[in-house]
Amino acid sequence: MTETTPVTELTETEAQAELARLAAAIARANIAYHRDDAPEISDAAYDALKQRNAAIEARFPGLKRGDSPTEQVGAAVAEGFGKIRHEQRMLSLENGFDDSDVTDFVARIRSYLGHEGDLAFTAEPKIDGLSLSLRYEDGFLVQAATRGDGETGENVTENARTIADIPQTLTGAPALLEVRGEVFMSHADFAAINSRASAAGDKTFANPRNAAAGSLRQLDPAITRARPLRFFAYAWGALSEPLAATQFEAIARLGALGFQTNPLTRLCANVTELLDQYRRIEAQRATLGYDIDGVVYKVNDLGLQRRLGFRAATPRWAIAHKFPAELAWTRLEAIDIQVGRTGALSPVARLAPVTVGGVVVSNATLHNEDYIAGRDSAGAPIRDGKDIRVGDWVQVYRAGDVIPKVADVDLARRPPEAARYVFPETCPECGSPAIREPGDSVRLCTGGLICPAQAIEKLKHFVSRGAFDIEGLGVKQIEMFFADSLLPVRAPADIFTLQARDAGNLAKLANRDGFGKRSAEKLFAAIHDRRRIGFERFLFSLGIRHLGEVAAKDLARHYGSWTALAAAIDAAHPAALLHLRADAAEAAERAAAAQAGRRAEVAKTRMQIMAEAAPEARAAWEEMLSIEGVGAVLASSLVTTLGAGGHERQAVEDLVAQLTEITPPEARATQSPVAGLTVVFTGTLEKMTRAEAKARAEALGAKVAGSVSAKTDLVVAGPGAGSKAKQAEALGVRIIDEDAWIALAGEA
Ligand code: IVH
Repeated sequence: MTETTPVTELTETEAQAELARLAAAIARANIAYHRDDAPEISDAAYDALKQRNAAIEARFPGLKRGDSPTEQVGAAVAEGFGKIRHEQRMLSLENGFDDSDVTDFVARIRSYLGHEGDLAFTAEPKIDGLSLSLRYEDGFLVQAATRGDGETGENVTENARTIADIPQTLTGAPALLEVRGEVFMSHADFAAINSRASAAGDKTFANPRNAAAGSLRQLDPAITRARPLRFFAYAWGALSEPLAATQFEAIARLGALGFQTNPLTRLCANVTELLDQYRRIEAQRATLGYDIDGVVYKVNDLGLQRRLGFRAATPRWAIAHKFPAELAWTRLEAIDIQVGRTGALSPVARLAPVTVGGVVVSNATLHNEDYIAGRDSAGAPIRDGKDIRVGDWVQVYRAGDVIPKVADVDLARRPPEAARYVFPETCPECGSPAIREPGDSVRLCTGGLICPAQAIEKLKHFVSRGAFDIEGLGVKQIEMFFADSLLPVRAPADIFTLQARDAGNLAKLANRDGFGKRSAEKLFAAIHDRRRIGFERFLFSLGIRHLGEVAAKDLARHYGSWTALAAAIDAAHPAALLHLRADAAEAAERAAAAQAGRRAEVAKTRMQIMAEAAPEARAAWEEMLSIEGVGAVLASSLVTTLGAGGHERQAVEDLVAQLTEITPPEARATQSPVAGLTVVFTGTLEKMTRAEAKARAEALGAKVAGSVSAKTDLVVAGPGAGSKAKQAEALGVRIIDEDAWIALAGEA
């Protein structure tokens, strides 16, 4: 096939390749013409490309691309970025901080794989920028996406095309290749941009990372083009064929295809060599000319990488060995208490401003009252037991993006009048008692939605990115509506009644400061759009303590609907209360035993208390705990917060009444033939360890159980399988050997 093969003669595969090529060529022509005012092809040639594209789409409507040029007008600037679902998730990395974390990492891999032979790793700088996934089809760059939440990122294709390090076309690449790497800005470019910005009276960026992120996520690609961004390739996503057999060769291959790869990447044979390379890179850190925040180690053999696979959000085959955090000393001027959406009272250090690693810091977290007092959550001394007082000189540190922390205090410089800090036992925002549950280091305001701080923080969370994400309704607008007397928003459901209330109001939103007719209408439309919402987003948006996005997804997948989850919460409620009572009794028993110098009898106490639960309550509770990613801490928080009859439950029911549909989540890995099966492994496995077998089965959507019952679908029996295999036979459960399991699980 060539670029002039008649459309009527194209096979489906050829047509697909042609559509990819045309999409890229048209996009490029658009940019040259509309944005850069420097057309690269004649109008006639441009029209010919568009016509050929339209003809192919007409003949193969099923092949029409998501970014089809027929849907686009010139290089119009999109309103916000479109979303792109990553074909393969973009993960983050586990962090290690000292040498022993690296030794442990290697030991864990050996034990997981049952591998005693040679085990090589690559070591390379961890670039402090933002990750980007570039999709090439038939050698053409067709899509660029930010990481986003790892599953869905933002479509920044047009911006990525302006980065010189990113090739627009590749020769000799696999038909499908997703290249992943880091976008960053050099120190020199960062300094130049900031000095230009401050000369012009514009806002400056805090660091090169923010500058890179701000530049890539510009709605106008012309601005991105004016910012000198760079790109290092270090990984890949979806592929039509492997790049190489090892990580090191795969990176070399990306280099040969035209990508910049980091020149400090080395192959290391053992922990000693990894740590040597770490020291070498650390020694060069200041003179590299760009920010790095550690060294990444990756298992070199890609076959082993595949066997090691992934945990929830990180690969087992890699680790980021972080550089020590940056430090500075300053004076602690005050301690403020902030009340968060879950009611947690968080102490914040107000500091005399100080520069830590290039960023001016004037606030830092003090974690909780034990931390201020010089104790850890188990009551053991930290900082040699030194407490922190207002007026003290304190050491502040920050590592990467995280909130700065107070690490240490200098007793020699403590002013004589400095007094021990007394942590409040009532909420500074609403005056309700603030209590600490046994075993919890956090003091919680008991005011619930009555507490204005909790209510407003919950609302801010409710409209945030991973939650309802309502366009035009951000932190600022929530603060405005929360304080509003005509159109108050005090609970999530109020957001959805805004339009109706506005209609019956004389002082219309459209006449207010900051709003016009159009912006009010747009806001109402954006709110209306969200009356249909995914169950996992809905759950996450409730802002339940300990319930993050990942656990929300796990719960949503398990229960499928709010009705089913609400029923489970009601059924499990008595058991959750007993669980908390057992926690309290356990803490009391531990304290009493420590006093009397005897061993604590906690297991018995807990069993006795839990035995009071009715069987249905226990079953519902245990079902919740059986969900991967859901532990007792989260489950009891969920069940007690949303228990029937409470304020928060009412707020959720009010919200549900305003929604038209809560859509069930997609099932995970439904493709796999073992998805949904309950599998038991028994006997010796010869090709993989137990841990590996279990993790792989779970990744494919199977449940792994420890014992055989009527609910078991499949028993994988290796040599020496005993009673479990017999029991399976008796129950008529299907039994297969390890090879058959590998074949069934697809080994993909
Ligand atoms: S590998 C599956 N290599 O660090 C893991 N990541 O903290 C793929 N990063 O999200 C990532 N330099 O944005 C890898 N040499 C490097 C890296 C690197 C920076 C970033 C990346 C990742 C984050 C995890």
